[in-house]
Amino acid sequence: MAVRGGLGLFLTSVLLAMAFAGFFGGVDSYNRPPMRKTLVVRNLADDLDAVSPQQVHISVVGEDKMRISWITETSTQATVQYGTSPGKYEFSADGTTSSYSYLTYDSGEIHDTVIGPLKPNSVYYYRCGIDSTREFSFKTPPAQFPVKFAVVGDLGQTGWTQSTLQHIAESNYDMLLLPGDLSYADLNQPLWDSFGRLVEPLASQRPWMVTQGNHEIEKIPLIHNEPFTAYNARWRMPFEQSGSGSNLFYSFNVAGVHVIMLGSYTDFDPKSAQFKWLEADLRKIDRNKTPWTVVLIHAPWYNSNTAHQGEKESIDMKASMEGLLYRARVDVVFAGHVHAYERFTRVYNGKTDNCGPVHITIGDGGNREGLASKYIDPKPDISIFREASFGHGQFEVVNATHALWTWHRNDDDSVVSSDSVWFKKPSISDPACKVKT
Ligand SMILES: *[C@@H]1O[C@H](CO)[C@@H](O)[C@H](O)[C@H]1NC(C)=O
Ligand SMILES: [Fe+2]
Repeated sequence: MAVRGGLGLFLTSVLLAMAFAGFFGGVDSYNRPPMRKTLVVRNLADDLDAVSPQQVHISVVGEDKMRISWITETSTQATVQYGTSPGKYEFSADGTTSSYSYLTYDSGEIHDTVIGPLKPNSVYYYRCGIDSTREFSFKTPPAQFPVKFAVVGDLGQTGWTQSTLQHIAESNYDMLLLPGDLSYADLNQPLWDSFGRLVEPLASQRPWMVTQGNHEIEKIPLIHNEPFTAYNARWRMPFEQSGSGSNLFYSFNVAGVHVIMLGSYTDFDPKSAQFKWLEADLRKIDRNKTPWTVVLIHAPWYNSNTAHQGEKESIDMKASMEGLLYRARVDVVFAGHVHAYERFTRVYNGKTDNCGPVHITIGDGGNREGLASKYIDPKPDISIFREASFGHGQFEVVNATHALWTWHRNDDDSVVSSDSVWFKKPSISDPACKVKT
């Protein structure tokens, strides 16, 4: 994380927007909150040395393994020691280390180590590096229903992000799903490190499964031609396990749910690698094992906010891939990008369709750009609930046919459940919605 030149300035100030919280609290009716400033999170403990783990986050690999990702200032062995009680590390695994350069910035040493096999629904204690004093713990997801996902897009790193993270931490979730736009570093690489530190308390305890948004591209023509450099280096996801050749799209199974992460900013036309992979992946779903299928994209295919209308990642990707998802009877499509919340009915090809997926925009994590508060008037019939507020969603799949979706508005720093609905598999009542095999 060596920073040469003037970029060091960005690290020097700690902007605590928490001060805003007290300022805007205590109103009777809901007052739409203003933007909050970017937080710059420095190392949490002063006694961290150059090989102390920081920015620790975890992600599932297959059904019984976990990837531990962390960063150190200087080079050290990528060893994770772990076990089922604190301070006792019966097991050990070694991983790989990488780094990247971006303009004048050189990243720290980025370590990725896969551990397991692990038991489902179990707590493990671990440390990164053989003599680190920092102990972390995580809980593995359950092997069966119920399973609870926290869902949040366009997270950023502001006072609102902090409020959202607090509410997610209280939700007792099993896994976090993020439909793109993570750090809002926007070329300023030390903000990726800051973001890693901000999310570590949560992301080191539960798997954070992410896909990328436009803010991850960070490509500068002629100067830095490779897109997604920081994202791919820092947020390595288990793409090989699902037969994908790219970190930008992949899938995995967790507790009866097949989760598909798509890339809105990589090729998606019918001739593309992503399209062919998706087609094959959908064909391989075993409905007895995973009755539910959930898809995440960044740019929403359905959107009645005035923000981000007419973008090709919405229109062309939908035209290319919506039929595939529809015929595979995907249950829910989560998107971000629009900084607001919106839930549609079951929909296909622009119209209500009992066998189509529910589309949800959940791009309201708390980023520095603020909310997208203007909506198309009148509201289209297919849009059921829409509101521009920061918050997050919880998707609790209780069994093979029922799932509870709730949207939690941050509402002046206390968590409020603002939209709540049961999703039922339409195939229970409508034979036409059964998957054709
Ligand atoms: C699934 O959960 C729903 C909601 O709790 C319940 O009404 C339904 O009976 C459950 N189905 C089965 C097969 O247990
Ligand atoms: Fe975006």
